[in-house]
Amino acid sequence: MAEDKVIITYAGKSTECPVIIGTEQEPAMDIANLRDDTGLVTLDFGYKNTGATKSAITFLDGELGILRYRGYDIADLAEKSNFVEVAYLLLYGELPTAPQLADFTSKLQANSDVPAEIATILKAMPKSTHPMAQLAAATLALSGVYAKDSAKATEETIINILAKFPVLVAMVMRNTQGLDFVPNDKSLGYVENFMNMAFGKQASQVIVDAMDKLLILHADHEQNCSTSTVRMAGSSNANVYASVSAGISALWGPLHGGANQAVLEQLEAIEADGGDTAKFVAMAKDKASGFRLMGFGHRVYKNFDPRARIIKKACDEVLNDLGVQDKKLTIAMELEQAALNDSYFVDRKLYPNVDFYSGIIYKAIGFPTDMFTPLFALGRLPGWVAQWKEMKENKEPIGRPRQIFTGATLRPYKEVENR
Ligand code: ACO
Repeated sequence: MAEDKVIITYAGKSTECPVIIGTEQEPAMDIANLRDDTGLVTLDFGYKNTGATKSAITFLDGELGILRYRGYDIADLAEKSNFVEVAYLLLYGELPTAPQLADFTSKLQANSDVPAEIATILKAMPKSTHPMAQLAAATLALSGVYAKDSAKATEETIINILAKFPVLVAMVMRNTQGLDFVPNDKSLGYVENFMNMAFGKQASQVIVDAMDKLLILHADHEQNCSTSTVRMAGSSNANVYASVSAGISALWGPLHGGANQAVLEQLEAIEADGGDTAKFVAMAKDKASGFRLMGFGHRVYKNFDPRARIIKKACDEVLNDLGVQDKKLTIAMELEQAALNDSYFVDRKLYPNVDFYSGIIYKAIGFPTDMFTPLFALGRLPGWVAQWKEMKENKEPIGRPRQIFTGATLRPYKEVENR
């Protein structure tokens, strides 16, 4: 192997795979000619070793616990920026100037009204429909109203989905609770208006700041399950609403965005069971139990989740400010300590992830548990759209993995009486 290429030889045939080096020096081998040259394909369950694209949006290093959007450290952004500015950064690659930010903000406000038909669709859904299903359906339904150019990454398309999404999330929350919708107030900021529409009253500055921080922390996370889904759906030229709706569905699962709801439900279950954390830690270590500690472990962070550190601090601030004393928080801290000191968790590099703490903050603010994952979606939207836009601008081909077929080889059909 030379430094700039990898040579793969199989059954007398070989291919040269150029080594591509990213700006953070991560090497990858380009296998574009592998199948043509050698007949081989790769097999990589869960894509643990597979780079699906080149991207300039988010960099993370799981070993070092680094997360950066467009080169800016997540801790810096969480402390000094705001969600709208971060959305602009993710989408356009640079922090906005003051006039750019003012223009972006006013366009988001001006385009935030959601058509009445969407409210009708939400109201017509069965009352027991999970908010993530409502959100996926409502987002998809926008494609019926804003079809023009919505498969193209035009400014209009991008602004439209970004502007309407918080309104949709708030409507979904009110609908799930059987409450009337609160009118959209275009004079309010992005987060302020969302909180006002969700709760029917203005939120305090501490809460708005905490929400801003949470949304920033969730805004992008490179090629995770839901983002890859958005890019995959978009690669077929599906419009932005369909692509984001697919991402919402992928985010819903408890191994991904659904973890924040699962964490809180697990803490509630432990509390109801008497609060013996040691018992649940033991269960998590016992493979036969099928039980996992929700909010622990991450596919890429194998040291710590940098978002978890920031959010833990925000969590303390919000709980202090609201004067909340919750037994679930004590349970959460006991679980955290038990896991950090237990060789099972240490050996497997299982640390609390961002969702371990986010649910506790959302609960203290007053969000119902089943809204936690839609809140994750609200934060992730700029990342999804930025990645979708990048995929379009790169003119990436339709996503279509190969497989290793393990089923029956050709066999003759037998009439039913002969089987
Ligand atoms: N509790 C107990 N054991 C665990 C946990 C957990 N939460 N997570 C992983 N393990 C164990 C596995 O059993 C496995 O053990 P083994 O090596 O003895 O077989 C080992 O740790 C590695 O686990 P994998 O599932 O192979 O790790 P993977 O990288 O595929 O999965 C995942 C990562 C899905 C996040 C996993 O850690 C998990 O299920 N965590 C709980 C759910 C969760 O919090 N998800 C949120 C992720 S963050 C986000 O989406 C924003």
